[in-house]
Amino acid sequence: MIKQAIIPLAGLGTRLLPLTSVFPKELLPINGKPGIEYIIDECIDAGIKEIIFIISKKKSVIKNYFYNDKLFKKIIKKKKDKRILKEYKKILKYRKMIKFVYQNKPRGTGDAVLKTRKFIKEKYFLILLPDDLIIKKNCTKSMISVHKKYKSSVMASMNVNSKNVSRWGIYNVKKKINKQNFIIQDVVEKPSPINAPSNKAVIGRYILPKTIFNSLSKQKSGKGGEIHITDAIQSLIKNNQMFIGHNFSGKYLDCGTMKGYINSSLEISKI
Ligand code: G1P
Repeated sequence: MIKQAIIPLAGLGTRLLPLTSVFPKELLPINGKPGIEYIIDECIDAGIKEIIFIISKKKSVIKNYFYNDKLFKKIIKKKKDKRILKEYKKILKYRKMIKFVYQNKPRGTGDAVLKTRKFIKEKYFLILLPDDLIIKKNCTKSMISVHKKYKSSVMASMNVNSKNVSRWGIYNVKKKINKQNFIIQDVVEKPSPINAPSNKAVIGRYILPKTIFNSLSKQKSGKGGEIHITDAIQSLIKNNQMFIGHNFSGKYLDCGTMKGYINSSLEISKI
């Protein structure tokens, strides 16, 4: 069973400047709710029991968001506002599941994930990248079913416009299992359109084996001088581990870019 999830939150959020100059992008509201809460709700709904947040000292305000008891208690006592009480209870529920781990130097997602090594108990775990909201259908839930059926690692994926491949990790297909699931041959981090092996992009949901920590600890920095999970996954694939790309059926909202972030509130408000 997949019970533990990791959410890397230590990134600088430069694509969303100036919104992120003093405020973490994961707390920016999307249709009236911090983006991170959509990700937590997806986890809870999929049966995840523990979530490991990787933050940095600079982003300690994320931890404060979940530990602001004094303020809530004072306001609730004074105003007896039911809405605030409900919101406070929700935050307490989230808090019970969350553990905080630190990555103080932004050396990439792979390096961030490596910091959680000693906390991962099961053979497989989940990673969710908070820039990627997937609405209308719980992507994590579908990926867990695929994982159970094929006893394999799984990554969320979608077909993208070939002109934009350099925004994502891109993989090519070794074997098509069915309309939504593909055995991956190779995966490469943010290739240029001429070097891209296909137009199948990796979106930020990964079910990975614990053995990835070994690869990550040996992983040299790649694109942009950072350690990428994509590169560690590629070395596992080269070691004959099976990875499935799962073309999810929900709707993808790329909240990591300004255009995508603005659009996400509009899309969610339509549901
Ligand atoms: C990360 C991954 C990339 C993946 C993308 C999905 O990139 O490195 O492989 O396709 O998330 O959103 P980032 O968004 O951190 O630049």
